[in-house]
Amino acid sequence: MRRIVRKRQLSENVFQFVVEAPHVAKAHRPGQFVVIQLEDEFSERIPLSVADWDPEAGTITLIVQVVGKTTRMLSLRQEGEGIAHVLGPLGNPTDIEKVGTVVCVGGGIGTAPLHPIARAFRRKGNRVISIIGARTKDLIILEDEMRSVSDELIVCTDDGSYGRKALVTEPLKELCEQGDVNEVVAIGPPIMMKFCAETTRSFGIKTVVSLNTIMVDGTGMCGGCRVKVGDEIKFVCVDGPEFDGHLVDFDGMMRRLAAYRPMEQEKDHRCKLELVGNERRGE
Ligand SMILES: Cc1cc2nc3c(=O)[nH]c(=O)nc-3n(C[C@H](O)[C@H](O)[C@H](O)COP(=O)(O)OP(=O)(O)OC[C@H]3O[C@@H](n4cnc5c(N)ncnc54)[C@H](O)[C@@H]3O)c2cc1C
Ligand code: FES
Repeated sequence: MRRIVRKRQLSENVFQFVVEAPHVAKAHRPGQFVVIQLEDEFSERIPLSVADWDPEAGTITLIVQVVGKTTRMLSLRQEGEGIAHVLGPLGNPTDIEKVGTVVCVGGGIGTAPLHPIARAFRRKGNRVISIIGARTKDLIILEDEMRSVSDELIVCTDDGSYGRKALVTEPLKELCEQGDVNEVVAIGPPIMMKFCAETTRSFGIKTVVSLNTIMVDGTGMCGGCRVKVGDEIKFVCVDGPEFDGHLVDFDGMMRRLAAYRPMEQEKDHRCKLELVGNERRGE
């Protein structure tokens, strides 16, 4: 059991947890993620990015948006309680090189994994311009943290309630037009990453995206996270999570992400695995 050391609510549906996980804290690199399992062997495994980590304290920071059952159950956990399993670090670290100017684009919860990546690019000597966006002011997270690792920070909201009233692609396009962007890293909802990649395509600027496909085992065995990248089928958990945004089949990825939505939304849906688990426990 991995103990929750600190919990903080960042917005209505977003929670930050500092969790004891010394093995991950020691080995983790920007861009990687963990798979957590809240309960025993019958509870769902979900992938989460590591927003920060402290090798001395042996802790990692997770930032979680409540979208369904497991993220809701996690949001109800309190300090002192635990998470049964934290598996990681998984996936490949971000390739951090000195390239010049890097634009880091974060949408909603995507700002959480972006923060350590922006910090690493800055530490490597790059000029970092960050753009963070959300639908409305309350959904902007980690503004101070992103400011502290960026040479310039642009905040956008769709409804204009804070910062600039724009989609993140607007300032991204302007920066590309100004002509000195060497690399873009975009992390957020698939639709946002798709349009960031479309924005940079005509400028020929390298664009890295971090994909949030559905995952099951996180080890390349189940095929749940497969995605088409160029002419190849890739597994996000072991080949990614980062890929060349100009090659990703975002439409196919979004279709796969939505595939289980009707079952999740079915009013009386009850997970069969849960039933098996209850039966085995005699409930
Ligand atoms: C590498 C990686 C890193 C991630 N990092 C984070 C993170 O740091 N913080 C965070 O809050 N979430 C993160 N996610 C997404 C997170 O794993 C899902 O939100 C979670 O699995 C949903 O589980 P659930 O049981 O609560 O919801 P479910 O009941 O499984 O799903 C509820 C709704 O969310 C959608 N959904 C399910 N899985 C995903 C997904 N992977 N991406 C987008 N939508 C999904 C479903 O289509 C459905 O509409 C990450 C995903 C990946 C692959
Ligand atoms: S999650 Fe199973 S292959 Fe990637």
